Amino acid sequence: MSTLTADVIVDLQYGDCGKGKVAHHLCQSQKYTHVLRYNGGANAGHTIFHKGKKFITHQIPAGVFFGIKSIVGNGCVLDPVQFFSELKMLEEGGVDTKGKIFVAENAHIITDAHKEEDKREGVRIGTTARGNGPAYREKYGRTGVRAASIPELKPYLIDLYKEWYEGGDVHILGEGAQGFGLDIDWGDYPYVTSSHCTTAGALLNGLPPHAIKEVWGVAKVYETYVGSKKFQPEGEVFDKIGDVGEEFGATTGRRRQTNWMNMQNLERAIRVNGVTHIVFNKVDVLRTVGQWAVYDAEKKMEFKSETEMIDYVKERLSSLGIKKENIFFSESKETI
Ligand code: IMP
Ligand code: MG
Repeated sequence: MSTLTADVIVDLQYGDCGKGKVAHHLCQSQKYTHVLRYNGGANAGHTIFHKGKKFITHQIPAGVFFGIKSIVGNGCVLDPVQFFSELKMLEEGGVDTKGKIFVAENAHIITDAHKEEDKREGVRIGTTARGNGPAYREKYGRTGVRAASIPELKPYLIDLYKEWYEGGDVHILGEGAQGFGLDIDWGDYPYVTSSHCTTAGALLNGLPPHAIKEVWGVAKVYETYVGSKKFQPEGEVFDKIGDVGEEFGATTGRRRQTNWMNMQNLERAIRVNGVTHIVFNKVDVLRTVGQWAVYDAEKKMEFKSETEMIDYVKERLSSLGIKKENIFFSESKETI
């Protein structure tokens, strides 16, 4: 009997929490045979520092940096134009992509018409205009185009059933896109994306529930959101956090709105996704800003120091069943 296991990375806020960095870190353990992007399309922007070089990927999973089979799953929508330009960018950056990158044959395609529509209509909620929403709408309307019918993609196509169940031991790292606060069902509708940004979303790529071992939640020690709704409260501190944190979208360059971390939202995200490990990024940003606060139980709580806030967060999360040794606070762009 061969084994099939999966660890999953889930963003617990509104995207841009540093999933790419966590994926890059976990890949170094050498335990994964596959890295699977399980939702979203070219709307994502994963910033990865590899061997001192900065890469921004939109569709291709982080496994490729380590020569691990990297798969765009059927939960994703794929823009072939973007896909091929990303392959080129990686090759030119010295990353060997040959025989490493695959696309599920039942993943859906983002067409030029989807992108045009999203540019026109996406303004209402402030999409990334990458055609994501229209592509998923057609998928569910049963008028979509699957990867299998695109001749240029032939060399990259993969049957995920065969890959997971007929090829020996499989250890997957699931790399999510966007975040729980943008999830089509659990986010603040209609200010959401069109895919499932949850652990359940990873399962939709042909995985049985019992395969899931670790669920790595990723958050920042403050929140950011990019889109049309008003998110950032009044106060100079929030602009300062945005400036120090360089909070501009990796895909669209838009300025991200900021706010303090909300512990109740985090609690929802942890429970619904079954988080076992959690990484809080950008501790260095609040350190530079010099203020520490979170919202909890409907009110703002201020802390005198970084340690005071970290202790509070750790206690809060251990009451939710997360082991203290599985809670990480990161202050570096490159490591956790
Ligand atoms: P769409 O996914 O392009 O349809 O955009 C829907 C909403 O999700 C907008 O508010 C976008 O700014 C946001 N969004 C989409 N992808 C990302 C991401 O990767 N990071 C952060 N926000 C995103
Ligand atoms: Mg991003």
